[in-house]
Amino acid sequence: MKIEIRSETPLQHASAALVVGCFEDAQDELYAALDGALDGCLARLAASREFTGKANSSRLVYTLGKLPAERVLLVGLGKRAELSGERLRQAAGSAMQALRGARVARFSSALCQAPLPDALEAVATGSLLGAYAFEWYKTKDKGERFEGFETMTLLLPGESDAEAARARVERCVAVAGGVRLARDLVSQPGNVVTPGYLADTARELAACHALSCRVYEMDELIAMGMGALVAVGKGSAEPPRLIVLEYRGAGAKGRPTVLVGKGITFDSGGISLKPGAGMEEMKTDMAGSAAVLGTLAAAAGLKLPLNLVGIVPTAENLPDGKAFKPGDVLTSLSGSTIEITNTDAEGRLILCDALHFALQYKPAALIDLATLTGACVVALGHEASGLMVNDQRLADALKRAADRCGERIWQLPLWDEYGEDMKSDIADLKNAGNRDGGALKAGWFLKQFVGATHWAHLDIAGTAWCDKARPYCPKGATGVGVRLLIEYLAGS
Ligand code: BES
Ligand code: MN
Ligand code: ZN
Repeated sequence: MKIEIRSETPLQHASAALVVGCFEDAQDELYAALDGALDGCLARLAASREFTGKANSSRLVYTLGKLPAERVLLVGLGKRAELSGERLRQAAGSAMQALRGARVARFSSALCQAPLPDALEAVATGSLLGAYAFEWYKTKDKGERFEGFETMTLLLPGESDAEAARARVERCVAVAGGVRLARDLVSQPGNVVTPGYLADTARELAACHALSCRVYEMDELIAMGMGALVAVGKGSAEPPRLIVLEYRGAGAKGRPTVLVGKGITFDSGGISLKPGAGMEEMKTDMAGSAAVLGTLAAAAGLKLPLNLVGIVPTAENLPDGKAFKPGDVLTSLSGSTIEITNTDAEGRLILCDALHFALQYKPAALIDLATLTGACVVALGHEASGLMVNDQRLADALKRAADRCGERIWQLPLWDEYGEDMKSDIADLKNAGNRDGGALKAGWFLKQFVGATHWAHLDIAGTAWCDKARPYCPKGATGVGVRLLIEYLAGS
C-alpha cells in the first residue's frame, strides 16, 4: 500500500472513503463540522447507539453528495483521556478491516489529527500492518476477492511540516516491511520455508541491503563442533544450516547487538513425536528466525547507527533412521555434553550452539527469540511473550520498548533452582526436565551457554501466531519481535 501525505482540510478532500476518529466522550471540531455537513447523521447514530465512538468500533456512512468524500468511515477512539499510541494503532487497524469489507482500495485518513505527538506514526503503522493479508495460495475466485489496498492519503493537521512527516512515515514503512517479511515467512508452509529457503532469504536480504551474509553448511557445522544443531538436523533430508547476517551501521568499531532466532522450519517432535492434532501449527517454529531476518531488514532500511549481527540456526526436526534419539549424548559447541531425554526439546539445542557461537562477537547485548515452550503459552496465553534475562537493565530497556510499541512482554524468573531438574546422571546437562516450570527450565538451560554476556531470551511460542484476528494483525502470523527489537535498538 502506497502512502500519500497532504495538508488538506478533511471536509474539502475528495476520496472514496474518509476515515475519521471519534471519541466516546468528547466531540472535536472535525466531528461537529462533519455532523453539520451530514445534516446531523453523527448525532443520530450516537442517539440510537449505533455508533458511540467505543474503541475499535466503526461505522461506514455514504455522504450522498453532501461532502467531496463519497463515504465517511467513523472509527471509535474510546475515551479521550485514555487515548494512547496503541489505541490509535488499533483504530487505524480497525479502519483497514472495515475498508477491506467495503472493498475500498484507495482512501484518505484524518486519524492522524488525533491529539497525540506520535499520532502520525501510530496511524501509519496500524494501517500498514492492518492491511496485511496472506493469500499466496488461494487460486479460486480471483475476481471476487478484494485485491488489496492501493493508496492511503494521510491528511495532516493544519500546521504540520509535510517534509518531516514524509520522513516519519518512511520510517514506519521500513519497519512494517520487516514485520511483513516475518509474517510471510511464518505464514508460508513448511514444504516451502525450509532451512535452505531461510538461507536464500538471508542472501537476498544481504544483496539488497548491503549486509554481509555467511551460511555454514552441514560439513562445516560438523567441523566446527556444533554437535547439538547437527543432531537436531540429522533426521531430515533437508540439512541444517547456521546463517549469519551482519549489518554495520556504526563502522568497524562498536560492539554489536547480536540477535539469535530459532529456525526450526517444522517441528514434528522427532522420535519423541508430537500428537497429530494441531501438528501443522509447528510450521511456525521458525518465527524467531523470521523476527531476526525482519529486524535486520528494517534496521538496514532505517540506516540505524549501530552494529547488528543476526544469527539463525535452522533445521527440520523429523523422525528418521538417521534421527537423534532419546538417550543420545551430544557434545555442544561450548564443550558441554547434553543427554537427550526428549527430542521434542530441540529448540534449546540449536540455540545453545548458536548462543555460544555468538559470544565470539563480544556482544554489547545478546537477545534470542524462540517459539520455545508450550509451557510459556500455558503461563501467558497469547497476550505476551515471556522474557528471561541474566541482566535486569537489559530487561528494563526491553520492557520500555515493549510499552512504546505495544508488543507485550512479561518477565519470568530464572532462579538457579530451576536447574536442578536439568542435571543429567551421565552428562553435564539433560535437554528436558518435567513439565513444571517448563518455560523457565528452558530459559535456565540457555543461560548456561551465554557466560557473563548481557543476555535476554524471549519465548514467543504464544505470540508468534494468533487464532483470532486483532485490529492490526489478521489471524495467523503476527511478525512478533520485529517492532519490539527496532524500538529497543532505536531507543537505547
Ligand atoms: N516448538 C515447541 C514449542 C511450541 C509449543 C511452540 C506450542 C509453539 C506452540 C518446542 O520445540 C517444544 O516442543 N517444546 C516442548 C518441550 C518439552 C518437550 C520439554 C514443549 O513445550 O512441550
Ligand atoms: Mn519441539
Ligand atoms: Zn520446537
